[in-house]
Amino acid sequence: MSLCYSSNFITLHSPKHQNLSINLSSESSQFFKLFRVSTDSQKSYKPIKFSRERLKLYASLTQSQAVEATPSTFRNRNPKDINVLVVGSTGYIGRFVVKELVKRGFNVIAIARERSGIKGRNDKNETLDQLRGANVCFSDVSNLVTLEESLKSLGFSFDVVVSCLASRSGGVKDSWKIDYEATKNSLVAGKKLGASHFVLLSAICVQKPLLEFQRAKLKFEAELMKEAEVDDGFTYSIVRPTAFFKSLGGQVELVKDGKPYVMFGDGKLCACKPMSEPDLASFIVDCVLSEDKVNRILPIGGPGKALTPLEQGEMLFKLVGKEPKFFKVPIEVMDFAIGVLDFLVKIFPSLEDAAEFGKIGRYYAAESMLLLDPETGEYSAEKTPSYGNDTLEEFFARVLREGMSGQELGEQTIF
Ligand SMILES: NC(=O)c1ccc[n+]([C@@H]2O[C@H](COP(=O)([O-])OP(=O)(O)OC[C@H]3O[C@@H](n4cnc5c(N)ncnc54)[C@H](OP(=O)(O)O)[C@@H]3O)[C@@H](O)[C@H]2O)c1
Repeated sequence: MSLCYSSNFITLHSPKHQNLSINLSSESSQFFKLFRVSTDSQKSYKPIKFSRERLKLYASLTQSQAVEATPSTFRNRNPKDINVLVVGSTGYIGRFVVKELVKRGFNVIAIARERSGIKGRNDKNETLDQLRGANVCFSDVSNLVTLEESLKSLGFSFDVVVSCLASRSGGVKDSWKIDYEATKNSLVAGKKLGASHFVLLSAICVQKPLLEFQRAKLKFEAELMKEAEVDDGFTYSIVRPTAFFKSLGGQVELVKDGKPYVMFGDGKLCACKPMSEPDLASFIVDCVLSEDKVNRILPIGGPGKALTPLEQGEMLFKLVGKEPKFFKVPIEVMDFAIGVLDFLVKIFPSLEDAAEFGKIGRYYAAESMLLLDPETGEYSAEKTPSYGNDTLEEFFARVLREGMSGQELGEQTIF
């Protein structure tokens, strides 16, 4: 059973898809009561008041009505009258995207699982608390029928879908299930209910696809672009960020404890322009309204120069006030391990994910998270756009003070 908390309905879904909807918009008073997560810091979820004016928008749109969707219509409206559906709302980036959308005044509908977060550690109340200010709908993005029913039962249309979905493991099947299928489900369901713009959180590394999750993302990107080609009323923005802070903070506490900084080769095999969650969320939310981000693939990095692992290590030792101490691992060690795993997978197919995780590790050890210049075929720090203010140095300093809380890696601790 799933439960949606929305602006004018509270809906119970039974496993047999028999829905019980309580339509709050039929109230005759000037204001309607609504169960929505409040933006204040209190943990109790009080009903809040919505004016009839605001509800008109939703109440007038029934399932049978054709929804007018031209790329510019919603962009002329006030954010409070723009309905943004967010999938992947409970992830490392998704949470910040919801926060930023709420801060800018959009009407946010966040889809979440009944247990969200890494290894499902958050229950419904914790999820509601995390997504304060948004209407939260508990549903299943991996099942198109369920997702469509949940969205329809909310009784209103959408203008924009923002997807921050990603496989939590990076495993082969899960990548196709989430990075491709579930993301496609949110496009299909969102479009059916009026969405005319789709903002996709992708990754810069899909430029050189050697891994399954990259192929899954690229397949969806291609279908999204095709959708805009065949439908004049539909647009997209594909955001391809460089490395997240969480992916670079894993050695901070080890170095603080006197351990050496581990890197592959000479520590200069790759570089990235790391980006914080709030900066990336802000860029993603810019994509909702910015005309100059329409129908574009947008590689994006954080502020400052690109940093190699060697430079990141040096920065860290400077911050802790210790003499730099590096442990250099030959990249061939990874190649050997991957070779062994690839051989074993042929005999034991159940090792498929283990082999994939090895390849993911190898990829990040040697490939730069920078724009791949089509003219030279080389990664280019200069051509990788920068956005935001938060620096890796500030992030390292914060982790040294406060620890890695909120920066935990996914289920396989790879990314
Ligand atoms: N790490 C990096 O340095 C980096 C760099 C550039 C780009 N990226 C890309 O950025 C994207 C987002 O990363 P992130 O770290 O924010 O991801 P994340 O924290 O792993 O969040 C993934 C989101 O997808 C949802 N999800 C996963 N499996 C699901 C399932 N079976 N059913 C329903 N929902 C599911 C999660 O919901 P639950 O909370 O319910 O699990 C969560 O909301 C990824 O595409 C990644 O490739 C990462």
